[in-house]
Amino acid sequence: MNLHVNYMGLPLKSPIVVSASPLSEKVENIIAMEKAGAGAVVMFSLFEEQIRSEEAIYEEILEQSAYSSAEALSYFPSVSEYPVGIDAYLRIIEKASKEVEIPIIGSLNGITNSGWIDYAKHIEEAGAKGLEINVYYIPADIEMDGRTVEDKYLEIIGLVKKAVSIPVAVKLNPYFSAMANMAKNLDGAGADALVLFNRFYEPDFDIEKMTISHALQLSGPGEIRLSLQWIAILYGRLNASLAASTGVSSSREVIKYILAGANCAMTASALLKHGISYITHMLDEI
Ligand SMILES: Cc1cc2nc3c(=O)[nH]c(=O)nc-3n(C[C@H](O)[C@H](O)[C@H](O)COP(=O)(O)O)c2cc1C
Repeated sequence: MNLHVNYMGLPLKSPIVVSASPLSEKVENIIAMEKAGAGAVVMFSLFEEQIRSEEAIYEEILEQSAYSSAEALSYFPSVSEYPVGIDAYLRIIEKASKEVEIPIIGSLNGITNSGWIDYAKHIEEAGAKGLEINVYYIPADIEMDGRTVEDKYLEIIGLVKKAVSIPVAVKLNPYFSAMANMAKNLDGAGADALVLFNRFYEPDFDIEKMTISHALQLSGPGEIRLSLQWIAILYGRLNASLAASTGVSSSREVIKYILAGANCAMTASALLKHGISYITHMLDEI
């Protein structure tokens, strides 16, 4: 059976795409994903916030060393040479792009405009065939209205599209008051794909220990309906491709998402539960 699909202008051998997760931290895992039949791999996200804090820590070390001993300082490379998060991230993309034929899609979570632009360029230069923007923004500011939040997304896609020539996907959360209009505006701003939807970490209480619990719960098949509904609503109305994300637990959810109009179905939780070879099992069933 021919399972080839097109996702944001990238020809994929299969509609199952590995979603951003720690599994892509290892190049050997990415090789295993290709062998198992993944159509593409989305890298775990590069978080600008994390890079900035690593740089800040490094600069602090430098300062302390300078005070303690001039000799100690000479053991430290300059900040730009120091392998902070970004370098390690780009190296994985570079290595993986050489080892596999399937597209590697970078994933970026920026904070500043220059962060979005610079890191997007670096990810493209490292060999990524596409870029997913993971805005992951929780508008907790009580003074911020919906239009301001929407404009932020549109500004980011505009900046990133100008910075790179690879296709750019926007990973969305479902909390827009006018989701269809937001999708249309992102499409108009140049998004090559929309990923519906991201799944935010939602904190909980552990009432036995009286602590806040951040334990992540993996998804189940019952969670596909929100994404399924929006993919069906948006299908055929945008230029952007549609990727389904959340709840792909077996071949059944992949088939449902494709029936609704998704170009591809992304999966993270199922692979964390069952292992990378589960992709082959799902493809065999399809
Ligand atoms: C452990 C874990 C780590 C994740 N890390 C990222 C990430 O770095 N960037 C991102 O955009 N999504 C991340 N996600 C979200 C997944 O890519 C995916 O969108 C979400 O889990 C829903 O898909 P699923 O139901 O197949 O798990 C992560 C998910 C899990 C479970």
